Amino acid sequence: MNIALIGAPGSGKGTQAAMLTQHYKVERISLGDILREEAENRTSLGEVVKKYMQKGVLAPDNIIQEVIGKKIDTNGFILDGFPRTIRQAQMLKKILDQKGTNLNKAIYLKVNQEVAVSRLSGRQICPKCSKLYHVVNMPPRIKGICDNCGSLLVVREDDKEDTVRKRWEVFMNQTHSVVDYYLKENKLLEIDASQDKDKVFKEITKILG
Ligand code: AP5
Ligand code: MG
Repeated sequence: MNIALIGAPGSGKGTQAAMLTQHYKVERISLGDILREEAENRTSLGEVVKKYMQKGVLAPDNIIQEVIGKKIDTNGFILDGFPRTIRQAQMLKKILDQKGTNLNKAIYLKVNQEVAVSRLSGRQICPKCSKLYHVVNMPPRIKGICDNCGSLLVVREDDKEDTVRKRWEVFMNQTHSVVDYYLKENKLLEIDASQDKDKVFKEITKILG
């Protein structure tokens, strides 16, 4: 099972990626989480990408290529947040061709801006295991503490109102074209991602089998 999740900030890519990875027992490749970890660990790559992430804009494709090339596993994967440009979609195709495999489906998690913004304004994240929460929709058992590992939950730096607006704009201007790319490739699956997370998951797995 080789799947890419495409969607605006707050569409639920990370949430669905976690559920699908468990269900299909495949590798999860979350570009945002990988880059945040690099930034947190102050690696040379992390120091470069941090500046882009703080502004809510995309990191350069050559950096993404370096990261993704090492991560793609031929035993199946769920991509979260990649590809985000046509160039990245072409990059993925080339990598998969070289490995003798291909992408099965690109799932477009469609939401409107209002839903996405309200989700991001309540999001909390575990800095250690990356588990996601929402103060209202998906609260942890103990307020502010990760159910999984007991770490103190944090709010992502790029969830500030202005940065969220910028990320939405970047999605519309640079990433939405990837939806059309996969439509032409006959790989697109569009899902109403404004529904409850379990309904979204059920719809995806019903179609994928
Ligand atoms: P990234 O971390 O991928 O951020 P994003 O695309 O903006 O998406 P989010 O993580 O904010 O939202 P999500 O869709 O994962 O939603 P979530 O499941 O958390 O990327 C960050 C940055 O890294 C980029 O801005 C860029 O700088 C860089 N980057 C990453 N990939 C790159 C690439 N390929 N190229 C270049 N640069 C790249 O859900 C949100 C909230 O809603 C949570 O609180 C959750 O609990 C809740 N929720 C989820 N689903 C539901 C539901 N169905 N109902 C109710 N609540 C829900
Ligand atoms: Mg995410």
